[in-house]
Amino acid sequence: MRNKVSVVGSGNVGATAAHWIASKELADVVLIDILEGIPQGKGLDLLQAMPIEKRDSHITGTNDYKDTANSDIVVITAGIPRKPGMSRDDLLNTNYNIMKSVVTEVVKYSPNCILIIVSNPLDAMAQTAYKLSGFPRNRVIGMAGVLDSARFRTFIADELQVSVENVTAFVLGGHGDTMVPLPRYSTVAGIPITELIEPSRLAAIVQRTRDGGAEIVKYLKTGSAFYAPSAAATEMVEAILKDKKKILPCAAYLDGEYGIKGLYVGVPVKLGSKGIEQIIQIKLTADEQAALNKSAEAVKELVGVIGV
Ligand code: LAC
Repeated sequence: MRNKVSVVGSGNVGATAAHWIASKELADVVLIDILEGIPQGKGLDLLQAMPIEKRDSHITGTNDYKDTANSDIVVITAGIPRKPGMSRDDLLNTNYNIMKSVVTEVVKYSPNCILIIVSNPLDAMAQTAYKLSGFPRNRVIGMAGVLDSARFRTFIADELQVSVENVTAFVLGGHGDTMVPLPRYSTVAGIPITELIEPSRLAAIVQRTRDGGAEIVKYLKTGSAFYAPSAAATEMVEAILKDKKKILPCAAYLDGEYGIKGLYVGVPVKLGSKGIEQIIQIKLTADEQAALNKSAEAVKELVGVIGV
């Protein structure tokens, strides 16, 4: 049977996610938005690229949630992006209301799907989707760590002039200013970067990673990053559809892991056909744990405002 992935939101992140998913022939894709014509137009355009790409993914654009029925995965990108000077947290109330209506519709037609949340503020929106869907926690996953780690990997590879393929990196915590890049667990061909990059340079790279989203918002002015965020969501889609059991940093609902309870925070997880199949607990130093706690506090404050 062919896989079906629906992408909610046909803006830059959603449409580009549809593009990556179709061009990797991972699934048939339904692109849905409340805006009339945009998902239909982008969907048809993408469909017409398939003969050139030699892919048989089918892409449909729609305004009707009925067309998303029985999706294996639903990627939710709906919401407004930030503008220069805004933090992700400034999007909270608007995107909460959008998320509420989207999740209700998605769950109605795909009660067994896995939700990948991409809308910001990420961790609070993942928590919203988890609470409103009534799904078990393994089926509601937030995309942030893959993106933040990819930014960290890009900067490390650039600094050392090595292939990005040689670089693995971990970023934990919420997808915000308090995120926690973990140099100790970041390596180049297995060598910890703490042995390869001197501390002041490393500190600058860590800060650039934390500010990675804002750096792009500053350039674009009218919106935020979308190539890397949608590629990150696609890596998660692929890990799930192919049951790869891939360890990736994702926002997951913690129930005591890392000493955090009842909250979405970015941690390493194993992604397979059941969604989050395991939360990987790695040993943290006291400083790293304190940074993770601080990040979790920031998420807690946001979910407190919207009461989820
Ligand atoms: C970013 C936004 C999408 O990090 O959260 O670019």
